[in-house]
Amino acid sequence: MLIRPWRPWSLSENEITPESTYLNRRQVLAGMGFGVAATAISGSVFAKGAMAAVTGIPAERNPAFVLDRDITDEEEATTYTNFYEFGSSKNIWRAAQKLVTDPWAVTIDGMVEEDITIDAEDLVAKLGGVEERLYRHRCVEAWAMAVPWTGIPLKKLVEFARPDAGAKYLRIETFHDTSIASGQRQSWYPWPYVEGLTVQEANNELALLATGIYGKPMPNQNGAPIRLVLPWKYGFKSIKSIRRITFTDQQPVSFWQDLQAKEYGFWANVNPEYAHPRWSQATERLLGSNERVPTQKYNGYAEWVEPLYAAMPQTRELFF
Ligand code: MTE
Repeated sequence: MLIRPWRPWSLSENEITPESTYLNRRQVLAGMGFGVAATAISGSVFAKGAMAAVTGIPAERNPAFVLDRDITDEEEATTYTNFYEFGSSKNIWRAAQKLVTDPWAVTIDGMVEEDITIDAEDLVAKLGGVEERLYRHRCVEAWAMAVPWTGIPLKKLVEFARPDAGAKYLRIETFHDTSIASGQRQSWYPWPYVEGLTVQEANNELALLATGIYGKPMPNQNGAPIRLVLPWKYGFKSIKSIRRITFTDQQPVSFWQDLQAKEYGFWANVNPEYAHPRWSQATERLLGSNERVPTQKYNGYAEWVEPLYAAMPQTRELFF
């Protein structure tokens, strides 16, 4: 994924923040004018770094989603992570502890009945609770993992947002805060990280808003407190630490597309037949082992998502 910039790499990753002191999310949001009642949060879970309390976790597993491979070792999946906001290496999990994820305001706006800014946890509660799903994840860099995500179908958010009939896309944005995210001081990147998908894709059963992994609240490095998971697309579409979801009739330009349109397109559906300019997509390396396995079209989820694209030209553009 690393695009070697034409300008020099200069900044090093920041020092690790001491374990955060957690604030009462609702009190803080009330102070910020979001008008929610002050109540105590129920507890905290600490695994790889500090994490905020999230309701409903561990959640019941939805048996509809099964794997064809072993679940990736938790340590691997939570220490080998892509989160360019905190640096371009995979070893950013310590740096990511600087992110304060509780409280966390999410804005839903654009072509919707009413704009809303709401705390992530309140949003999840309003959407109706979380479930666990076992999903494969395939990065365009040709590594793959299989993990239990906890989350809520994205289609529930679409329903909640009540988009206008003319809204065709969701444009999704990550936080932007150079004071904690050293990667965001690298000004040649088009921060904040942006991704997009169609409303039909968002309404597909597979699209998940994830708040946890391995039966625990989402660690910062994996995109706390709330991220997208689109298992049939290359991993860069699964945007982390979401701050804003805008419904629009314009196809969003994503972070990587903006940076390198020849290498990254809007659709980015997994397909072993189309090589990325820098990586063959024929096989994938399973995280935590040296084993390579064949990559499957739509990352093995064709039965769920093929109808979304059946009427479109089956060209390279659909897969990058
Ligand atoms: N989201 C943000 N905000 N920033 C990122 O750098 N990296 C993407 C995606 N979401 C990224 C992001 C890429 S390239 C991948 S492969 C997945 O997150 C990795 O998710 P994981 O680190 O939880 O495995």
